[in-house]
Amino acid sequence: MSDLIHYQFDDGLALIGLTYPPVNALSQALRSALSAACERAASDPTVRAIILHGSPFSAGADIGEFGSAASHAEPSLPDILMRLSLIDKPLIAAIDGLALGGGLELALACGYRIAVPEARVGLPEINLGLLPGAGGTQRLPRLIGAEAALDLIASGQSLKAAKAAESGLVDRLARSSATLLEDARTFARKLLADAAPAQPSAPFSEPGISLPATFITDYQAKHAARWKGRQAPQRVLAAIQAACERPLAEGLRREAELFREADASTESAALRHVFFAEREASKVPGINADTMLRPITQVAVIGAGTMGGGIAMNFANAGIPVILLEAQAQTLDRGLTQIRRNYEISVQRGKLSSRQLEQRMALLKGSLDYADLADADLVIEAVFENLEVKQNVFRTLDQVCKPGAILASNTSTLDVDAIAAVTQRPGDVIGLHFFSPANVMRLLEVVRARETAPDVLATTLKLARRIGKIAVVSGVCFGFIGNRMFEPYSREAHRLLLEGATPAQIDKVLTDHGLAMGMLAVQDLAGIDIGYLIRESRREVIGHDPSYCKLGDELHTLGRFGQKTMAGFYRYEGRERLDDPEVTALAERVAGELHIQRRQIADEEILERCLFGLINEGIQLLDEGTALRSSDIDLVFINGYGFPAWRGGPMHEAECIGLDRLLARLQHYRQALGAYGEMWFQPAPLLQRLVAAGRSRIEKI
Ligand code: 3HC
Ligand code: NAI
Repeated sequence: MSDLIHYQFDDGLALIGLTYPPVNALSQALRSALSAACERAASDPTVRAIILHGSPFSAGADIGEFGSAASHAEPSLPDILMRLSLIDKPLIAAIDGLALGGGLELALACGYRIAVPEARVGLPEINLGLLPGAGGTQRLPRLIGAEAALDLIASGQSLKAAKAAESGLVDRLARSSATLLEDARTFARKLLADAAPAQPSAPFSEPGISLPATFITDYQAKHAARWKGRQAPQRVLAAIQAACERPLAEGLRREAELFREADASTESAALRHVFFAEREASKVPGINADTMLRPITQVAVIGAGTMGGGIAMNFANAGIPVILLEAQAQTLDRGLTQIRRNYEISVQRGKLSSRQLEQRMALLKGSLDYADLADADLVIEAVFENLEVKQNVFRTLDQVCKPGAILASNTSTLDVDAIAAVTQRPGDVIGLHFFSPANVMRLLEVVRARETAPDVLATTLKLARRIGKIAVVSGVCFGFIGNRMFEPYSREAHRLLLEGATPAQIDKVLTDHGLAMGMLAVQDLAGIDIGYLIRESRREVIGHDPSYCKLGDELHTLGRFGQKTMAGFYRYEGRERLDDPEVTALAERVAGELHIQRRQIADEEILERCLFGLINEGIQLLDEGTALRSSDIDLVFINGYGFPAWRGGPMHEAECIGLDRLLARLQHYRQALGAYGEMWFQPAPLLQRLVAAGRSRIEKI
């Protein structure tokens, strides 16, 4: 019939298999083939019931088609599903692997669903800035109730079929993947024997009837903070409201309207960009599917401090045994106690069972002896940020570790080449830069040093997935991708304080833009002392600017290290952050000493200077080859620095703003800010080349 569909007639049953690897995305071609197969089964009088199946069942609409004509091309998914729901023979969706988005909507249009217990079902459209657009917002509330449907759709999360069966989303569980089709046949024959209707009546035919009138507004208020700046959640609410208030046909029309708006939105374009960026990030020149991977069954972490403890937890969480090595028994005990405490908090929050806590702790073994690392497949060093200290650790590792062990450093600023150089096996050395808290943050910068072997890189990328991280490859440079871009961002925030802005004004501009935290609140959290130490190590690069983070240096002199001393750019009372007139007075004094004219600064200027500075640095990183692609940079900022995913990351945002405008604004500040502008607002040469060539995408030319 078609390469995309496998059609089989089996004693009164039509088995229609979707065979469009890897995930049966419902592209225009698959939709056509599916529609034709269903019509054939519907019109064949010998077919009494139809089983739709696929392995995986389907990951939904083809995301690559969104924003293009193919997305709406005939036959449209909503039309096909409407047609399926009208076929007067029982349709059974047999779900293996996953049924997500349009894939689950396909199953919802069938009268019945049978699934493998481990299969995952969900409507993740909101994560793409969309809403379910093929009947999901209308059929699901009628099947499981409006509240449960809204929870599933608004969370964007999937659940196991075994759990979904409890709410009635799935009618029956198959014994296993291997028996799914056999179990589906048995189910179909039972339905026929019972003369079951093609579409059973909906358990919640009027989904809104028992809900309070304020259900939707209450839901919105409860999630307002999380949804700030976003539109997709509002559209989801509007569609559920329609399901509660209108008949099915009208509700479906409303859903279609909302979906069209969402499909055309900048929010959805940004989130789709992020979806593909995440998949693209693991594609790295020099490695491919044939690159042999090194087995990783035993990990070791050196240093049980803030980072080492969190890094070790990642592996224990994934069931991988970890040896945690420290220099002294006391620090080791403290580190292990802190890890237990972190797990206990998860138990208190109901995210972990006490049994899981003990299982994870059992995977962690403390040690004071390097000889214990002899069998480790991967060692991650997380000791003090000092080149000599780290080089000493690597010299020792070179002696004690088995051949083929991967030796990684979690350094945030140091030269990984210089660390690798002290070993006899630089090909085995790599940077694995975790972000704090390391057990929580999704980003892992994988620093490819000059001699890092391809299989070492490939193995760590694979391992990153295993521990739930998004890995982005960076070359070696000060700060790698993220901290290198963070530097101009931080510098501008500091400088704007001297020019007349307040910490609260700057932070509000940034959080209003969608950043998780304002820059100055971040500085207080990370520690003014830490920022100072990093600057101290770079005075030869920054010393030509007497104003460079000068307020931060002054706060450091005053012992205002941020939250840990209850005072930094703000003062703190308990957990409350308060404006501090002393900081304004300090800024006035320093500005006077440096002859910086203070003035009212518009919010737009604050945003542009903070944001454009970091984008300019990102473009430079791309040009240098430190970052492989612009979308990698977006992932770094979204997953490591709280940049809003719904803006697609700073580089995507720059493309939306327009590269010519970005260049013009950088040139404006270069002139308007005098000597300071001349120092720091030089547009990246690649940006100038891109604009000159009339290009709109940020890519190396
Ligand atoms: N459309 C197009 N391509 C898709 C896709 C989709 N819905 N889902 C996955 N893919 C592609 C990926 O891009 C990747 O391609 P690549 O190998 O060329 O990079 C390949 O399938 C494998 O995907 P992953 O690398 O992500 O594999 P995993 O096994 O880690 O994850 C997954 C599989 C859980 C299906 C994950 O890909 C995923 O979450 N996909 C998106 C699911 C989704 O959001 N569906 C809703 C779509 S919107 C919709 O249906 C609208 C409807 O309401 C009208
Ligand atoms: P930390 O000071 O909390 O922990 C360092 C630990 O290493 C201490 O427990 C110390 O006892 C131990 N240690 C020092 N020398 C050792 C040796 N020779 N052998 C065994 N143990 C030794 O420091 P933190 O914050 O955990 O940083 C560690 C590394 O991670 C640094 O390179 C830092 O730059 C990097 N990093 C830190 C981040 C952060 O936010 N704290 C973020 C990303 C990276």
